[in-house]
Amino acid sequence: MISRHTTSDAPMLPRPSRIRSMIRDTHDTFTMELDPGATWAFEPGQFNMLYVFGVGEVPLSISGDPGQPHQLVHTTRVVGTVTKAMGALRRGACIGVRGPYGRPWPLEVALGRDVVVVAGGIGLAPLRPLLHNLAARRAAFGRVVLLYGTRMPEDVLFRREMERWREEHDIACSVTVDRAIGGWPGYVGVVTALIPRAPFDASNAVAYLCGPEIMMRFSAEALRKRGIAAERVFVSLERNMKCAIGHCGHCQFGAAFVCKDGPVFPYERVKRLLELREI
Ligand SMILES: Cc1cc2nc3c(=O)[nH]c(=O)nc-3n(C[C@H](O)[C@H](O)[C@H](O)COP(=O)(O)OP(=O)(O)OC[C@H]3O[C@@H](n4cnc5c(N)ncnc54)[C@H](O)[C@@H]3O)c2cc1C
Ligand code: FES
Repeated sequence: MISRHTTSDAPMLPRPSRIRSMIRDTHDTFTMELDPGATWAFEPGQFNMLYVFGVGEVPLSISGDPGQPHQLVHTTRVVGTVTKAMGALRRGACIGVRGPYGRPWPLEVALGRDVVVVAGGIGLAPLRPLLHNLAARRAAFGRVVLLYGTRMPEDVLFRREMERWREEHDIACSVTVDRAIGGWPGYVGVVTALIPRAPFDASNAVAYLCGPEIMMRFSAEALRKRGIAAERVFVSLERNMKCAIGHCGHCQFGAAFVCKDGPVFPYERVKRLLELREI
């Protein structure tokens, strides 16, 4: 029998979990499905701590479908020691997982409104569960727009899913790349440039942003300029984490702890701190 996992079981104890599948999405990004031996209910925007035994533990957002809690999915870009070791693992290997942690994207704010999702690079992974929920409850929202920027065409993630969101769920997906050599049918340029022309009613819209901080800052400002209310723009932040439960202070961001007060914040709350180069 499959049991139901809850964070309160033992918040710091990783659950040994087998890798059910390992897919290479791009040259530096991979998607793993894990078997933690229990269903893993979560809300879009929440993250787990993943432990590569003998190497280290890192925070990773859950990138799967919240409607399928028996599938625990993470999409990871290789940047350093732990993500490199994780990317070298094969199907059947075991890693530790604890979570889910953190505050989710507040989807109830979007009921009856237009929705703008702005993603940069690997930032599409933490937004993917939100897009799954928007697709599953599509009639509850107005227009839904995804604006997604990557470096090169070969870095574009979840292409087939984007087709489905576009064709079956009436989600307007626009992809832009920083650089392209011939044959690229999409936009070239920064994702912020898509905001002024995107099809949504700013006076009644909600925006969810995830990507490099500079991209979120410029996107939030472009959305504000277009007329979206400040309190309806949300961002997901990344900071170094150790405990993930508000004890160690590693993830402190001003007066907030990103692990328990975030990672999703109203932009208004973190705007001033994001403007500082380093805190
Ligand atoms: C709440 C939360 C959710 C996250 N979700 C995801 C996710 O879904 N997918 C994902 O791929 N990553 C995600 N991250 C980022 C991920 O945790 C880091 O990439 C990871 O901790 C890096 O560990 P490492 O040991 O591989 O690299 P390290 O050895 O710690 O770092 C190596 C080098 O990479 C730099 N670096 C570290 N992190 C990043 C980064 N995020 N971007 C660019 N350079 C970096 C360091 O400054 C250093 O120079 C998330 C982070 C947080 C806080
Ligand atoms: S990671 Fe320990 S307080 Fe946030």
